Amino acid sequence: QSIDLQAIGSYLVEVARAAGDIVLTARPNSSTTTTKKNTADIVTLTDQAVEAFIRERLSQRYPTFAFIGEETYKDGVALTDDPTFIVDPIDGTSNFVHAFPAVCVSIGLVILRQPTVGVVYNPFRDELWSAVKGHGAFTQQHNGEQQQLPLVSAPLQGLGPACIGIEWGSDREGPNFELNLKVFTTLARTAATGGRFVNSLRCTGSAAIAICRIAAGQQDAFWECGCWAWDVAAAWCILSEAGGIMVDGHPGGWNPPVDNRRYLAVRPATEGQRGFVEEFWSV
Ligand code: IPD
Repeated sequence: QSIDLQAIGSYLVEVARAAGDIVLTARPNSSTTTTKKNTADIVTLTDQAVEAFIRERLSQRYPTFAFIGEETYKDGVALTDDPTFIVDPIDGTSNFVHAFPAVCVSIGLVILRQPTVGVVYNPFRDELWSAVKGHGAFTQQHNGEQQQLPLVSAPLQGLGPACIGIEWGSDREGPNFELNLKVFTTLARTAATGGRFVNSLRCTGSAAIAICRIAAGQQDAFWECGCWAWDVAAAWCILSEAGGIMVDGHPGGWNPPVDNRRYLAVRPATEGQRGFVEEFWSV
């Protein structure tokens, strides 16, 4: 039985907007915030309520599809080839708690381990990015106006002039943290790029939004070592459909959530993408 991906895409937009309304009306405070593995890894009652809402809405319409969500994920659950919704109810929870308006609902559908439908919605700025495999990527307003991504697509000139999104993640020790430290400090130093340091490094607290900005062509690349499948699944589809590339740090193929969680996203470009990736890995 064939799956109507565009119908799924439209439904995910509807669910993401409804979930975004819940996020917008919530008033997080310290009494509704708890920590998970450390104080950089937090969850609010709103994250949990929004995930339950999204899960319910998805299972009503697509009861046979699997579901992986940040707040209900249990160690040992792995992605299979089956159609699987991968959901982050609030990507940018720390921003949400601080009322910093880079917060989104991220809903991806992955089939045969490939990001196939993706919707990312930031209710605070009414920014929505979406894509269905084979049908392009778009950004749209509430009034229905939409623009195809990328918005900008010039040649990539290498690391020196690049504006790169980075995220620290919530690991503050261990191999992923050490690699982030090395990459960030190397990029910031002159020696990294044959005499030039990178133009700029940006860290805004939501991996999903950062990757959507790469898809739009508004930044050159995004790197994080330590983000999870729910942070990237939807945005990855949007990025690929816009003509960007995601280089999964796991050489054997995407196997989340148990892979090493390293992602490099490179923006759509008329030329220079592969050279950029090679230069990045040589750092
Ligand atoms: C986090 C954000 C953050 C990234 C972390 C993610 P959350 O998601 O995307 O930017 O650095 O790795 O886990 O916890 O806010 O959903």
